[in-house]
Amino acid sequence: MDTKLLFGDATAFATPMLAVFAIDLAEGKQAEPQPALLTANSTIAAAALALLESGEFKAGLGETALLHAPAGLNAERLLLVGLGKAKDLSLDRVRKGAGTAVRAAKPRSVRDMAIAFPDAATSVASQIATRSAALTARALVEGAEIAEVDYDTYRSDRKDREVHSLTLIAAEASDATAREMQRSFDEGVIVAAAQNFTRSLVNEPGNVLTPTVLGARAKAMCDEAGLMCEVYSSDKLQELKMEAFWAVAKGSAEPPALIVMTYEPDTAPPAGAPVLGLVGKGITFDTGGISIKPADGMEKMKYDMAGAAAMIGAMHAIARLKPAVKVIGVVCSAENMPDGRAYKPGDIVTAMAGTTIEIVNTDAEGRLVLADGLHYAKTLGCTHLIDAATLTGACVVALGMINAGLFSNDEATCAKFVNALETSGEKYWRLPATDDYRDHIKSEIADIMNTGKNRYGGATSAAMFLKEFAGDTPWVHLDIAGCAWNEEKKPWIAYGPSGIAVRSIVEWVRSYSA
Ligand code: BES
Ligand code: MN
Ligand code: ZN
Repeated sequence: MDTKLLFGDATAFATPMLAVFAIDLAEGKQAEPQPALLTANSTIAAAALALLESGEFKAGLGETALLHAPAGLNAERLLLVGLGKAKDLSLDRVRKGAGTAVRAAKPRSVRDMAIAFPDAATSVASQIATRSAALTARALVEGAEIAEVDYDTYRSDRKDREVHSLTLIAAEASDATAREMQRSFDEGVIVAAAQNFTRSLVNEPGNVLTPTVLGARAKAMCDEAGLMCEVYSSDKLQELKMEAFWAVAKGSAEPPALIVMTYEPDTAPPAGAPVLGLVGKGITFDTGGISIKPADGMEKMKYDMAGAAAMIGAMHAIARLKPAVKVIGVVCSAENMPDGRAYKPGDIVTAMAGTTIEIVNTDAEGRLVLADGLHYAKTLGCTHLIDAATLTGACVVALGMINAGLFSNDEATCAKFVNALETSGEKYWRLPATDDYRDHIKSEIADIMNTGKNRYGGATSAAMFLKEFAGDTPWVHLDIAGCAWNEEKKPWIAYGPSGIAVRSIVEWVRSYSA
């Protein structure tokens, strides 16, 4: 989709569809809805007046109403898009609103559209719009780009429903403000493209996207974006003594891929500057291995590489945003299969870090590949680590599909991540990974085991296992098992891969930019 930020009068702009946002000013459960437009433009307000007074449109989040031939406008249609209650208005609701507008256009075969930048018609609107017009511009274009994609690659019907162009029309602003808004808008385009790239990887089925193919896609991205990239396989795992990673990989006919992507800032950072390590779980299909999963729902396990895809997408955005901090992406990709050569419960393996691991359940494979990935990232010089993984069903049980799990061994590093969420709009809920849980992974016969003693606190048991390999290095762990795949479509995003973690990780990385 072509996107553009334009300063001028939205009334005069000729377009098949102009979208304008509305909020509900009513307070309290009993009150009648009081929809109010988020625009200072009186012509738009006049065109929408009868519809607003009809009470048909309540301005709920994701709600839309469409007017044809709106009086006084050069647009063929005026689309009202609800953002919900005034008190709940946020940057993320603006992001979702832009997405809702685009997804309303798609089935109507509207190819070109415009959105009126929400401005300070009402005091509530000014909360967000004037606090940061730049961040609003960014959120709008992100929401629109994310909403534009439907993962119908493998469907023969339902093609060609793209929106080709979107123009964001903001009121005239000072040069400085306009420049800020344009810069932020451009960042949004970059971050959204990265998130969509991640989603396109997660969407691929296991037969198409093997570890080797994931490596090739990462390499192609890096070549295009100007990142260094090495893709290693079985030999390198042996050489590095990555027995934990190899244990998972060896039951598959598909060779594993260890993908290392490096971003160096243009001016070399001073000695002692942070080096960030982005480590992703890239299980291209998780059968559970010898501890095989039940058939029901197993097809979902093609998205068990969403953490890896998030890191590859994040590296793409980082290459284009050029923060002043070195970043190394490490992806551990394998297929977890049952086989004559597969690893077995009871096996004991020695991780690259030297830690011995008793395998209790071969379905707890993600923590094994990450154990070696985290340790390897440290040997490459990473001073701060973040990992993303569809790691545990227990995390989904605990948090559902709204919040992803957040774990950390370092308050300052974790705080930086939590700060990043304000800009990214993603939701994480912190769960404990404190040393009083260390007993969960204690083994009688090896240093640690790869499951908890029992199923209680399973997301934390997995985090404790990873923490062992992060060691003293500040580390953040994201368990995205419940949030990587949208089981239900929303007005602002399609069914399927969500691309979670990309925006937050990119923002976290930028917070280290010198
Ligand atoms: N990939 C799964 C976790 C998962 C579950 C991802 C649901 C997405 C949605 C992971 O490898 C796994 O199988 N975890 C086990 C761990 C257990 C054996 C300790 C689980 O959660 O059941
Ligand atoms: Mn598993
Ligand atoms: Zn898995």
